[in-house]
Amino acid sequence: MNHGLIDLLRKLSEAYGPPGYEDEVRQIMIKELEKITDEVYVDNLGNVIAVHKGNDPKIMLAAHMDEVALLITHIDKNGFLRFHVLGGIDPRVLYSQEVVIKTENEVVHGYIGAKPPHLLKPEERKKVPDIDQLFIDIGASSKEEVEKLGVSVGSTATFVPRFKELKNNRVMGKAFDDRAGCTALIEVMRKIRNSPCTVYAVATVQEEVGLRGARTATWQVEPDIGLAIEGTTSSDTPGTPEHLTSTKVGQGPAITIADKSMVTHPKILRRLIETAKENNIPYQFKRTVSGGTDAGSIHLTKKGIPTGVVSVPCRYIHSPLSILDLNDLENTIKLVDAFVHSYEG
Ligand code: CO
Repeated sequence: MNHGLIDLLRKLSEAYGPPGYEDEVRQIMIKELEKITDEVYVDNLGNVIAVHKGNDPKIMLAAHMDEVALLITHIDKNGFLRFHVLGGIDPRVLYSQEVVIKTENEVVHGYIGAKPPHLLKPEERKKVPDIDQLFIDIGASSKEEVEKLGVSVGSTATFVPRFKELKNNRVMGKAFDDRAGCTALIEVMRKIRNSPCTVYAVATVQEEVGLRGARTATWQVEPDIGLAIEGTTSSDTPGTPEHLTSTKVGQGPAITIADKSMVTHPKILRRLIETAKENNIPYQFKRTVSGGTDAGSIHLTKKGIPTGVVSVPCRYIHSPLSILDLNDLENTIKLVDAFVHSYEG
């Protein structure tokens, strides 16, 4: 097992990073990237932009720092919190979950409750409670008590960090979408330190709410080539027919052909496939066209930027925990590294 890699993934997975509030993740990214790149700066929206200086072409690698989260929108007189979601969360995974709210000085723990089962009408029992029927209980008994803890309308919450090493070189933790990509981004920059290419490592903000940070970052970087590194959905689990399985855990990095946000530029797609083949790196295609990534914003910048997506397959993304295979993460790093090297000379 590669303990350095596991420790980095764990640290990033456990960091708190709702869209727009990526500070904890940003601090880790800055600290790691400062050691291995020529320059690191943060733009006005909070994107971390690290530069490895070299020759053309200018390659931009992007991974997003934010995770799906909750936004507190109402506090009632008895101290219960109501919320909306930031990013796509299936309401089925929210009920009965523990959450954490980080305020300026406090870490507040809470639990998502709903009307108890014995009070439900028969037809209600068959349904998943809507988000507006759920509430967060932080143990407070009044609005004043909530406010005293520094929790207010506008506070955010995430699922609880509980990273675990599983059997079979697999790990489980929160926010692998896209802390797996953030981990890979750092490791790739470490590997390409002597590359003659110019490589920008961009850790973006607010991907989960509309690929937003990537948009402003790309305008500044003006790359010739873009590549988003993602933690993507894998549905290689019971109940999913083979032809609807997007990716499979353990079968290598997933190369996107098309999704809702982009049709991968054929030139980049071909190069990713050829690079994988030439370097004997296992790979698979993402076989569904759902979802979108930062590549959707990157490729639409200025005159258009040929862009691709390479992803680590993760089961159960956008839920409290996801599972990935460390071999896939390592092979994603290898593929992106080899992709950068393919532009040398
Ligand atoms: Co993502």
